[in-house]
Amino acid sequence: MKLVLASKNPHKLEELQAILDGLGVEVLLESDAGVDVEVEETGATFEENARIKAEAVMKASGLPAVADDSGLCVDALNGAPGVFSARYGGEGLNDVGRYRLLMDNLRGMLDRRAKFVSCICCCFPDGTVLEARGECAGTIAYAPQGSNGFGYDPVFFVPGMKKTFAQLTPEEKNAISHRGNALRVFAEKLREHLKG
Ligand code: IMP
Repeated sequence: MKLVLASKNPHKLEELQAILDGLGVEVLLESDAGVDVEVEETGATFEENARIKAEAVMKASGLPAVADDSGLCVDALNGAPGVFSARYGGEGLNDVGRYRLLMDNLRGMLDRRAKFVSCICCCFPDGTVLEARGECAGTIAYAPQGSNGFGYDPVFFVPGMKKTFAQLTPEEKNAISHRGNALRVFAEKLREHLKG
């Protein structure tokens, strides 16, 4: 079966192909399926955004399509930046600017609890929809540490590992991360779906 990944990122393609190993699924990037879909992520939740993207690519390509949406939710900020994680603080900020803004907005706050969330949605032309959600709980550090990863990784501290995401190797991060968890749930659901 061919499965189109609603993304232009070859790294995400490799990651998904590896976790679906043995299922007889060939994962394609949008460009390899001959589609180029620009969708506005207008959903109020990660689930909605993943669904919007997967549905649009499924309709454009006529093939099953999978999409993900993720972000960071901070308790003391009522779940912000949430679905706005990539655009927190506006277009002018880069990753460092965004995590600095986050630390500024938490200055003086003792409740540092946060979680990363990843939602995956897979839409089939016959109307079947498979969804998976993964989370990873942590706290927002008082200062950035580590240089691996991307985005908010330097300020996302995992108490169980006593390290930020940016201090973990890619393998260590994948074993506990929201995306790793969501991908593992998705692989299991797809396996069940293809069996039945
Ligand atoms: P997207 O789902 O790939 O669009 O990611 C949304 C945004 O959430 C990213 O631009 C990052 O700011 C943030 N984010 C999602 N996952 C991670 C992660 O694993 N580490 C750091 N930041 C992340």
